[in-house]
Amino acid sequence: MSEGADPARRSSAPDSESGAITRPARRSSAPDSESGAITRPARRGSAPDSESGAITRPVLEAIRSRRSIRRYKEEPVPDEVVRSVVDAARTAPAAGARDLRRFRAIRSRETLSRMREAVERKIASVRGRITSPKAQKRYDAYTSTFTHFDAAPVVVAVIARPYDSIYTRILDRYIAADEQPRQWLVEPASMSAAAAVENMLLAAHALGYGGCFMTGPMIAQEEIESVLGVEEPWHVVALVPLGRPEGSAPPGERIGLDEVLSFD
Ligand SMILES: Cc1cc2nc3c(=O)[nH]c(=O)nc-3n(C[C@H](O)[C@H](O)[C@H](O)COP(=O)(O)O)c2cc1C
Repeated sequence: MSEGADPARRSSAPDSESGAITRPARRSSAPDSESGAITRPARRGSAPDSESGAITRPVLEAIRSRRSIRRYKEEPVPDEVVRSVVDAARTAPAAGARDLRRFRAIRSRETLSRMREAVERKIASVRGRITSPKAQKRYDAYTSTFTHFDAAPVVVAVIARPYDSIYTRILDRYIAADEQPRQWLVEPASMSAAAAVENMLLAAHALGYGGCFMTGPMIAQEEIESVLGVEEPWHVVALVPLGRPEGSAPPGERIGLDEVLSFD
């Protein structure tokens, strides 16, 4: 994200206060959150993005340039930025348009340490049961990505509750248990949470902040819920640390478009 694209740095009244994400603050204009606008609309008369092949729209640019950020400057993340980021999460697609998500912004170093310790304990207890040194090494490398969240000035816990769709309720009521094809159904609550997380990451990025979608710490889900006092039917499903990026993140490795897209 270039300096110029970060409205929070250019204005003493950042857009984040109004819920807008990329447009620079307009003095005494209606808040963007009222108009529902999130990014600046394409300029009239400009060539369509697809014609030039260039990604010119801010939202596409943000999608393209976002990276998982795992190291942060010490600089705090203002409340209004957290509010903007979670506002973007709140407006993400949600299964059945249902109210399935909650967000807890955690700044307390003590709470974050307790969460990290719970994850570390879980990692260690499983490690103790791995007999192969080679598997241990791979396990260590993998699980080392589960604990960095407490390096961020603020961590948003994404909390979701199960989604009982009309379909599953009808299955429960009318179809014998052994005929229920539940295993074929995707899990809409987690998907709704994931949509929210992606919006958060994009909003944070557009505001000059960075974050990381983390489900690794959920190996200690129960313990984290107990630290945060999260109770049924709600569950912590992901953590999203947020902060100003420290250094640059490596470009994400992806296979090409033609390898993932097919037309019929
Ligand atoms: C569902 C999900 C869970 C993830 N969990 C973790 C995690 O626990 N720790 C971590 O460092 N990164 C985690 N990531 C981030 C991925 O490692 C990252 O998206 C991937 O390496 C691609 O890099 P990029 O996001 O910079 O493009 C997760 C991503 C997703 C989508």
